[in-house]
Amino acid sequence: VMYTYVDQDTCIACGTCGAVAPDVYDYDDEGLAFVLLDRNTGTFAVPEDLQEDVTDAHESCPTESIKLSDLVIGKEALTHI
Ligand code: F3S
Repeated sequence: VMYTYVDQDTCIACGTCGAVAPDVYDYDDEGLAFVLLDRNTGTFAVPEDLQEDVTDAHESCPTESIKLSDLVIGKEALTHI
């Protein structure tokens, strides 16, 4: 099981994650990324067919803002939206 969220405190709006995993990541008005699947709460398990894209985004982000976990990350990320 895989959960993901974007740390918007460190995201520099580089735009890589949405290019690599467009079904998972989108950008807010400021260009900061967030997880479409669960509004960046880190609570929705990434479907199996999207996990490779998420891993690619995680490895591609220049600021390591794409967080991955095999546990529910939790709702604290909500405050970053
Ligand atoms: Fe931000 Fe990293 Fe995506 S800097 S836009 S979270 S690839």
